[in-house]
Amino acid sequence: MPIRSLSVKKIRNIDAVSFEPSERINIIYGANGSGKTTLLESVHFLGLTRSFRTNQFRYLVTSSERESLVFSKIDAAGNGQLKPLGVSRGLDGDVAIRFNGNSIDLSELASLVPLQLINTDTFELLEGSPGTRRQFIDWGVFHSEPVFIQLWRAFKRVLQQRNSLLKCGKIDPVLRQVWDQEFIQYAEQLTSMREHYIEQLKPDFEEILLKLVGDLSITLKFSAGWDQKRPLDELLAENLSRDLKQGFTSIGPQRADLKVKSEGISAAERLSRGQKKLVVSALKLAQGALFHRLSNRACVYLIDDLPSELDKHHSRLFCEFLEQTNNQCFITCVDPESLSRFWEPDTAVAYFNIEAGQLVQTH
Ligand SMILES: Nc1ncnc2c1ncn2[C@@H]1O[C@H](COP(=O)(O)OP(=O)(O)OP(=O)(O)O)[C@@H](O)[C@H]1O
Ligand SMILES: [Mg+2]
Repeated sequence: MPIRSLSVKKIRNIDAVSFEPSERINIIYGANGSGKTTLLESVHFLGLTRSFRTNQFRYLVTSSERESLVFSKIDAAGNGQLKPLGVSRGLDGDVAIRFNGNSIDLSELASLVPLQLINTDTFELLEGSPGTRRQFIDWGVFHSEPVFIQLWRAFKRVLQQRNSLLKCGKIDPVLRQVWDQEFIQYAEQLTSMREHYIEQLKPDFEEILLKLVGDLSITLKFSAGWDQKRPLDELLAENLSRDLKQGFTSIGPQRADLKVKSEGISAAERLSRGQKKLVVSALKLAQGALFHRLSNRACVYLIDDLPSELDKHHSRLFCEFLEQTNNQCFITCVDPESLSRFWEPDTAVAYFNIEAGQLVQTH
């Protein structure tokens, strides 16, 4: 799904930038504060209408401007046919997404632009709350199971209804049974999709981890959000008095997690910074590899400051791996020398220098 041309307007310190990225590897380099991360944010904005650094759009739009716009031509089907995709968003809250002359919604956009982000916040995948890991799992399920998004929305509606009844502190047993039946039906469908996805992901992850780190032993274990050895209806009934006290449902897919362990100990506690970066990267690269195997499409990887936390040997392995995939990569670094010697001569690598929000292709 390469982005073949990109035009960014009014995002942070980028007033207006237009360029034609390489279908494969793009190195964006420049001094601190020059706009490297902003350029990655702009691609993220194109794929998801929002930043990865802030939840508040007013911080993303250039100060004293009212609207941000990213326009592109993308090879959506990977067959060389370019189609226009544009996303604009205003301070008044208006978001417009246009693809090939039509308005599309956010989930259509997300499936059109399969994005993967690797930056310092991606450590959260190991160190953060289960919610971050659920997002990771659901990225994969969303892109591999077309019914997932409807199921997830339906489940969330039932969960909200059940929780608002619990908040009243009393719940009619007949009504509860009706909601619980729906809850269980969606919970089981969502869980089997998530389980299946993680099982498919494991071999890709192990292979990539071996290439990137060598024989570091890491295990992935999916946790559904309840004790799956017991029927969910029994557990919901058992937890009812606690749920009534708390005013929310304490078990179910909304509590799912992915346990990542090294030698039986939480990877967050055990691994060094560099090892964490490589494990998180292996997880995200495995998603891209599986996505490609299932859909024959490539992802767009945004990799902010690739060399940070990594020694030269591991930076090289990381680049070698990226080179072997067919993903389109936007990689930032301060010093282009740190990444320049790692590529084979026939790999399409483009270098862009950014200075005060102005971008120039250097080679
Ligand atoms: N809303 C905004 N309007 C205008 N400029 C902004 C806005 N938000 C941030 N900036 C400025 O945009 C510049 C680009 O920041 P960015 O984080 O992209 O730099 P960077 O090249 O990634 O730097 P580093 O190497 O330190 O990570 C900074 O100078 C910042 O002060
Ligand atoms: Mg930056």
